[in-house]
Amino acid sequence: MSAADPGPGAGELIDIRLDLPGGRRTTITVGPGALALADGEPVAALVADARALALHGQRLPTAWRERTLELPPGEEAKTWAGLGELLESLAEAGLERGCRLGLFGGGATGDVGGLAAALYLRGVPFVSCPTTLLAQVDASVGGKTAVNLPRAKNLVGAFHQPQRVLADTLVLATLPRDELASGLGEVVKTALIAGPQLLARVEALAPALLEGDPDALALVVADCVRTKARVVAEDEREAGRRAVLNLGHTFGHAIEAVAGYGIVPHGVCVAVGLGCATDLAARCGTLEDLALPERLARLLRSLGLPAGLAQLRSARDLTLHPAELRRAMDGDKKRSGGRLRFVLPRAAGAIDHGVAVDEADLSVVLAD
Ligand code: GLY
Repeated sequence: MSAADPGPGAGELIDIRLDLPGGRRTTITVGPGALALADGEPVAALVADARALALHGQRLPTAWRERTLELPPGEEAKTWAGLGELLESLAEAGLERGCRLGLFGGGATGDVGGLAAALYLRGVPFVSCPTTLLAQVDASVGGKTAVNLPRAKNLVGAFHQPQRVLADTLVLATLPRDELASGLGEVVKTALIAGPQLLARVEALAPALLEGDPDALALVVADCVRTKARVVAEDEREAGRRAVLNLGHTFGHAIEAVAGYGIVPHGVCVAVGLGCATDLAARCGTLEDLALPERLARLLRSLGLPAGLAQLRSARDLTLHPAELRRAMDGDKKRSGGRLRFVLPRAAGAIDHGVAVDEADLSVVLAD
């Protein structure tokens, strides 16, 4: 830890409780060595990303690996066909009602594995072991599962909560740089939602986070999980408030669709989307903290992330034509009454959702 004092508890496991309606509960354990707790959480089969398994499978109990179903890497696994194959494999393995699945991998593994758990025998329980920063701070918490359709991301899915989440921050040491950057995009999103305190902490820890400092990562993962658990506890099925977790995503998903899924990592697209959403809020006149755009841009740059569309276009040699981005936005799930709805910041900790905007303002942001 170089940039800030981690405070008491660095290096320890932290349990965060997500209480849900009907007396349901998920405990999320964050910290170095959390996977050691998998011993006490038996599973009937393991659904795992092949790369994560090769790098860190030895951290799982032998009993977890007796029946392993490997998934292709990343978004490749998140197709309708991939989901069908996974369900066939579960049936072939003869898994019975009430059997529990273990998921081991990044966001895509959690999404498709969680959806298979929601559908197989009309629902079986699962334990999630996220192995990327993005999955630890966001995707593994809150029970959203999905596959992509060619026209848009995550268009088919279900809410199905994990019984337990084991977020072992030791596995983050082997993350490729792009994957780390992707997770940091979701960290910044969560900090904006949480408010000034977490935003300041992420700013202070930025150099350590970028270096992959394990204490800094563990601290920030725990903070992000706490923030997300609070939002999900309030509104599990996104009837309202949970929509704030989509900050930056209407732009981010459009960038992913136009660039081609898997070309620019999800969290990097979200980072750019945060800049776009802040810019749009300024143009709409709803932004209260007028220093936020510059502050956000500085933070994103310090984390090695592009701070806007222009920077992404030149860094990755992409055209990302404004008209194509606008068309891709029409596939967004947050449409209502035939109009796109945006999540826009007023200030850190004050996020609006369900905002309809002027097309002219949107065009200017997309052309930037
Ligand atoms: N990733 C947004 C949510 O879980 O609601």
